[in-house]
Amino acid sequence: MPSPFTIDLTGQVAIVTGSSSGIGAASAKALAAAGAKVCINYHSDEDGAREVEEEIRRSGGHAIAVGVNVSHEDRVEHLFARTREAFGDVHILVANAGLQKDGAADTLSLKDWNTVIDVNLTGQFLCCREAIRHFLARGRQPELSRALGKIICMSSVHQVIPWGGHVNYASSKGGIMLMMKTLAQEYADRGIRVNAICPGAIKTHINQDAWSTEEAEKKLLKLIPYGRVGVVEDIANAVVWLSSDQSDYVTGTSLFVDGGMTLYPGFQDNG
Ligand code: BGC
Repeated sequence: MPSPFTIDLTGQVAIVTGSSSGIGAASAKALAAAGAKVCINYHSDEDGAREVEEEIRRSGGHAIAVGVNVSHEDRVEHLFARTREAFGDVHILVANAGLQKDGAADTLSLKDWNTVIDVNLTGQFLCCREAIRHFLARGRQPELSRALGKIICMSSVHQVIPWGGHVNYASSKGGIMLMMKTLAQEYADRGIRVNAICPGAIKTHINQDAWSTEEAEKKLLKLIPYGRVGVVEDIANAVVWLSSDQSDYVTGTSLFVDGGMTLYPGFQDNG
């Protein structure tokens, strides 16, 4: 008899946006390893997406790579249409695509403000809206999941920690928090679970400067009580759990996966 703690997503289909590298790629691979068929969405890094696709296929899983910019409404519709064409109904959305365009607020261009809000916040909304429309039209499939559908919004510790030099990014993540909670409240009675994961410092290319030298890593570790910089698998594990019925009673929650970054480490011996 299979252990009740084994997560099996066989028969379910997941879309992971921004999954040609980093947290998205690890999440896509983990969902595929748990049995889901996965759409690898990418924007510009087609080679990265093809590698993830190949790796999943080589390990016996199912994956397709689809290139769309999630901040464009018609492209998001295309993303879902392509996934459904390849694999059928969709059950899981991991709205992960995101970027940083850092700069001091007084010199930040409107272009860099808009790009970050468009991709990180509007892009997540468009994907969530498309997923919700699809889940409602499809109806329940209790043999696959207790929920009508599962949405995981990739947020950040910066949905609560202000971040100088990153006002566009922090604003987008703060926005994701209330978008996620509002959608969770609005659709809970229809069986859709919406949650956020808030990664702390995870080793990816987005924050490479903060951990790639010994000196930088030492400085970064002052912000992390648990004493290590995170790895993408830390987040992917949370994605799989939130996608599964193991978390069936969890909705509207922000799961901080941050080694304690949000515990105000400066207060350990101060204040
Ligand atoms: C950012 C990273 C940063 C981390 C912790 C993430 O959301 O994308 O660049 O290292 O938060 O500050």
